[in-house]
Amino acid sequence: KKYNIAIVGATGMVGRKFLQVLEERKLPVENYYLFASKRSAGKKVAFFGRDYVVEELTETCFDGKDIDIALFSAGGDTSLKFAPVAAKAGAVVIDNSSAWRMDETVPLVVPEVNPEDIDWNKGIIANPNCSTIQAMVALKPLHDLYKIKRVIYSTYQAVSGAGLGGYQDLENGIKGEAPKKFPHPIFGNCLPHIDVFLDNGYTKEEMKMVNETHKILHDPSIKVTATTVRVPVYYGHSESINLEFEKPYDLAELKAALAKAPGIVVQDDPQNNVYPMAVTAADTDPVYVGRIRRDDTVESGLNIWVVADNIRKGAATNAVQIAEEWIRRQNQ
Ligand code: A2P
Repeated sequence: KKYNIAIVGATGMVGRKFLQVLEERKLPVENYYLFASKRSAGKKVAFFGRDYVVEELTETCFDGKDIDIALFSAGGDTSLKFAPVAAKAGAVVIDNSSAWRMDETVPLVVPEVNPEDIDWNKGIIANPNCSTIQAMVALKPLHDLYKIKRVIYSTYQAVSGAGLGGYQDLENGIKGEAPKKFPHPIFGNCLPHIDVFLDNGYTKEEMKMVNETHKILHDPSIKVTATTVRVPVYYGHSESINLEFEKPYDLAELKAALAKAPGIVVQDDPQNNVYPMAVTAADTDPVYVGRIRRDDTVESGLNIWVVADNIRKGAATNAVQIAEEWIRRQNQ
């Protein structure tokens, strides 16, 4: 069977990457339908030698198209309103926004970590936050072995995570122009501010990492805290992750477990300056893990450095992997 696939937000940063990743991974696609706002309606998107015309996203735009899978990345408000519309029209929605992630009727999936959650979807499956996805890929094999007691995330996140506007703020900032997307210059700067501030003093991005970690690992007992920071990098989120385990561990065994876990490439040879970096992770799909070392300030502590492309594994690739896994489970 071949599938009809809708891309909602097709003109955006992640939307375009959806198309590229779908083609690279050779999904069995019958037809693509591209949607964006009224502003883009009628625009042509050239792709693998073919022109696709962008349609306006409306209440009736999915009707009569027999869409099987709808990949959404057009912001939270758009997903809140239109994901149920697409689901009602018969599609399974894979939504990249934060709108549905913590909804109890919506599975939140990283295919290497909790693919089985796909089975209880009711028409919408949520793609986790970019920073959470790469952390989950790295933490899952360690949690299975040693049970994580506490996590401290400190992130160094690329501007592309804020969409085209974020990307342009860095590009234009280099030329001396004032920022439009961010509240302060990002060029030559670090902003400890991603998404909006909440009453508890944390940002929404930080609380996404806390809540989504609990949901994806099915373990609300893990203590999680986070500081998320925007840095002047185009592509690739980097994360310092400090862990405390319930059980003692052997460092060599832990490294071996990471090396054979799905989706991970270990880059850990500091003597030869080998460690994960945004510039080498950019435009690739794996989650890179390095700087693997004990934290001796607690009983069973560990520090790792985790890097992945936020637009690929952090968004488009993870969503397409969910689609692949959904297809596989349909055909079982
Ligand atoms: P458009 O280009 O027509 O504004 P990014 O995160 O890179 O900025 O991309 C956002 C994507 O979401 C774009 O494709 C954008 O389309 C789309 N989008 C934003 N708001 C809406 C809306 N109200 N309805 C449909 N698509 C939207």
